[in-house]
Amino acid sequence: MTWPYKISSMTSKTNQELRDEANSDRLGFWANQAHQLSWHKPFTKTLDWSNPPFAKWFEDGQINASYNCLDRHVLAGLGDKPAILFEGEPGDTQTYTYSELLEQTKKAANALLDLGIRSGDRVAIYMPMIPETLIAILAVARIGAVHSVVFGGFSADSLRSRINDAQAKLVITADGGFRKGKAHPLKEAVDHALQDNSCPSIEHVLVVQRTNTAVAMEDKDIWWHDALAKAEPEHEAIGFDSEHPLFILYTSGTTGKPKGILHTTGGYLTGASYTHRTVFDLKSDTDVYWCTADVGWITGHSYVVYGPLANGVTQVIYEGTPDSPNFERWWEIIEKFKVSIFYTAPTAIRTFMKVGRAVVDGHDLSSLRILGSVGEPINPEAWEWYHKVVGGSRCEIVDTWWQTETGSIMISPVPHTMQTKPGSAQRALPGITVGIVDENGSPVINSSEGSEAGYLTIDEPWPSMLKGIWGDPERFVETYWSRFPGKYFAGDGARFDEDGDIWLLGRIDDVIKVSGHRLSTAEIESALVEHHWVAEAAVVGAQDEITEQAVVAFVILRQDELGDAPDEEEIGKVLRGWVSEKIGAIARPRQIMVVSELPKTRSGKIMRRLLKDVAEGRPVGDTTTLADSSVMNSINDKLHSSTND
Ligand code: PRX
Repeated sequence: MTWPYKISSMTSKTNQELRDEANSDRLGFWANQAHQLSWHKPFTKTLDWSNPPFAKWFEDGQINASYNCLDRHVLAGLGDKPAILFEGEPGDTQTYTYSELLEQTKKAANALLDLGIRSGDRVAIYMPMIPETLIAILAVARIGAVHSVVFGGFSADSLRSRINDAQAKLVITADGGFRKGKAHPLKEAVDHALQDNSCPSIEHVLVVQRTNTAVAMEDKDIWWHDALAKAEPEHEAIGFDSEHPLFILYTSGTTGKPKGILHTTGGYLTGASYTHRTVFDLKSDTDVYWCTADVGWITGHSYVVYGPLANGVTQVIYEGTPDSPNFERWWEIIEKFKVSIFYTAPTAIRTFMKVGRAVVDGHDLSSLRILGSVGEPINPEAWEWYHKVVGGSRCEIVDTWWQTETGSIMISPVPHTMQTKPGSAQRALPGITVGIVDENGSPVINSSEGSEAGYLTIDEPWPSMLKGIWGDPERFVETYWSRFPGKYFAGDGARFDEDGDIWLLGRIDDVIKVSGHRLSTAEIESALVEHHWVAEAAVVGAQDEITEQAVVAFVILRQDELGDAPDEEEIGKVLRGWVSEKIGAIARPRQIMVVSELPKTRSGKIMRRLLKDVAEGRPVGDTTTLADSSVMNSINDKLHSSTND
């Protein structure tokens, strides 16, 4: 086995060298990236693409993701290097060195084995942003089990459906986490999800004590600290096949049911670590890195857990929200820990723009050198503000485009190698081949004036690509690989500018982005019609100054079910609360409009495009295909006389 590296040696090649290498021998390039990791058994085959779209990367190699994130750093003499600088929302802090993180992870791995968890078993993780969450993830991976992290802001119902889809045997949770000055209950939501034996696959619940909130502990519930105290301290990581499942992460698609995106070990870790060191220009062994994403999302998986830890960096983990107790918090943290690389979402930047630069200006942010953006298009005004106010006009900005499915960053500028442009993610990374095609799948014509808008595709397999949708191989082929045969269809619109740089134009399907969180309009509609008052619902993403899009729902009520239901405003409130309860607060509609009809084509399809026009206050577009064109007039009139905000 090899443990080659110092971060500086990992990134000693220039971007141009990487690009040249990838262009002349793409697979050789990826094999070199994979060789930066430590393999228990070296691979001899880089890619098997004989049965597309089912790829096999580094197939005959064996690897352990947890070993790569921990043991090899300790063996290389970096045991005393801080891995996690934790800041709790109430202000408590804790540092974990790589040795300490390894020690805890070994114990946690043994605790999982003691509970009967074995390779291939699924473990749900429903946690706040605390060090134990990373330890839990690494412990699950260490024994070859498969984690399914469910964002702590999702409701008990959402947790239940994810547990059941994956048939998880164990849930790891906490009594709560601190958010906005309060203890946000998590164990209580788990109890609710499991009540009346509604998750029969669950055998145990492991509970981390964080907030000291009183929780009901039943037979199947075990305190994390008790389990770790009893566990053996030593645990030797064994290698698993490169294509061994590493995790499932549920994300929203165009249908009502979230999809369990499956990532496997060797390729995923190669993609996450390569992109992390390349995009963030990880040269310095003294970099302090901070990605503000929650581990419940893919950004947290790839750029809080696997990428940074595989690369052995020191990173900040912050439990709370940016405004707790006030909007100074993030900037205090950057100043305190001397953060040099900062990665966040445009929504956060726009929020701070609105609050005003004074909250940033009062802090010494001179340690910063690279600023990243992710999750949605960053508008040029927000980019400029980020660059000037946060980055002191000194830092490079990397606008990174990617998805849960791609596993790691696909399109992004590489620092110090190109002139960045506010609002453009620019180029596919070395090793990644993307294209933009028209309706018929032909590449858009890219002239000196740029191109028309088209559909973004990824044209060659890449190591961190999703390996399927959990339990649904047909949906995997159908969703991503059938629209433009032979290419991965991302669901985003894009165009080239006159320099050949890529501009992302947002989703072209019924997926919406609210504060960078991915939601499905169909899922929110299904939640709404589950309420007995609602006969029919249509949901659109309307433009929003801060959150990019906001959920606006149009509902037809069931007169026979209303009884003495309150007035429409009250009904709107109840239904907004209902959606929070069914899915999670992030899906709560900004506005609910009660209407008597929805605009439909003659074949009965709801024309969301028209509803979006109404919700965004634009004149309604072409209504000629409507079965009844007067429907839109009545909706329009209504909107201008009511809001529930
Ligand atoms: O529409 C794109 C948008 O986010 C979608 C993927 O969402 P999710 O799977 O939740 O992953 C988010 C974090 C990677 C994409 O289809 N998106 C993500 N990053 C960008 C973006 N849109 C424009 N620019 C970006 N930098």
